[in-house]
Amino acid sequence: MGESNLNQDKNKFHYEKLYANYNIKNILHWINNLDEFLASATTTETSWFALYQRDFKNRIKGKKVLEMGCGDCVNAAVMAALGAEVYANDIANSSGKIVEALNEAYKFEFPIRFVSGDFLLNKLDSKKFDFVVGKAFLHHLELPVEEQFLKETARLLKEDGEARFFEPAVNSKLLDELRWYIPVKGRPSKFYKTDFAQWKKNDPHPDRSFSSTHFENAGKKFFKEVEIIPVGTLERFSRFFKWGSQKNNFKKWALKTETKLPRIINKTLTRSQLIIYRDPFKELD
Ligand SMILES: C[S@@+](CC[C@H](N)C(=O)[O-])C[C@H]1O[C@@H](n2cnc3c(N)ncnc32)[C@H](O)[C@@H]1O
Repeated sequence: MGESNLNQDKNKFHYEKLYANYNIKNILHWINNLDEFLASATTTETSWFALYQRDFKNRIKGKKVLEMGCGDCVNAAVMAALGAEVYANDIANSSGKIVEALNEAYKFEFPIRFVSGDFLLNKLDSKKFDFVVGKAFLHHLELPVEEQFLKETARLLKEDGEARFFEPAVNSKLLDELRWYIPVKGRPSKFYKTDFAQWKKNDPHPDRSFSSTHFENAGKKFFKEVEIIPVGTLERFSRFFKWGSQKNNFKKWALKTETKLPRIINKTLTRSQLIIYRDPFKELD
């Protein structure tokens, strides 16, 4: 487990710093203009488009929802503003400070409850939750730790509950290799060996599979039903547009159009995925 602890410490260090002194002004603006925010986010941003598919927005009202890796707490705040009873967990204590500030500044029907520290040590009651969600979270875990999180997810969900995770997807070896050579903001190209090695040392992502097949098999250990929805096959080309309405229009078109691509193409070339797990095995109580 030494490797896993090291990975957890790296994540904590990285995100503690990132969310320290976080200003909740934007979140308050978004939850005060919720319909407008969701109309835009769920049609232009891959993570919001994915997580809020299939009427998630209306299905969580009055329901108990657990968010793992809540980070800057934007999604936790949006779900709470939609009337969900939100439990939010993160390894970074600064996320807890954001939750405190949000609860003080906004009158949620159910104030957000922060579940602090290592989630696996927080033994919440079995079959408590209608939804367990994570946005860009699972891929931060080493595989043995992810397995424990999925087992815990199955234990915590009600029998008719649902888990939803939005994660990056790498389903083609060629694309996987290529992506390291294309620099993105904050990550140098693998062509620059020293810079790349320095970046890798501090990067909070473990070396592991993000493939849809991995998430399918990982889920099948604890759930009878697994569904993977590719997201971002065409949207990924929005990076060639400058910020502005053209980029947004392209994203809207891409997210809608890519759902009509043949499954095999969409799955192979997708940039990310919504993973849905339902019907947890009963013997996990
Ligand atoms: C990429 S961020 C995503 C944050 C947020 N969900 C979002 O969509 O912006 C990943 C988050 O997972 C958290 N995290 C990583 N490992 C964790 C662990 N073992 N337990 C709880 N949270 C963890 C990090 O602290 C970070 O906030």
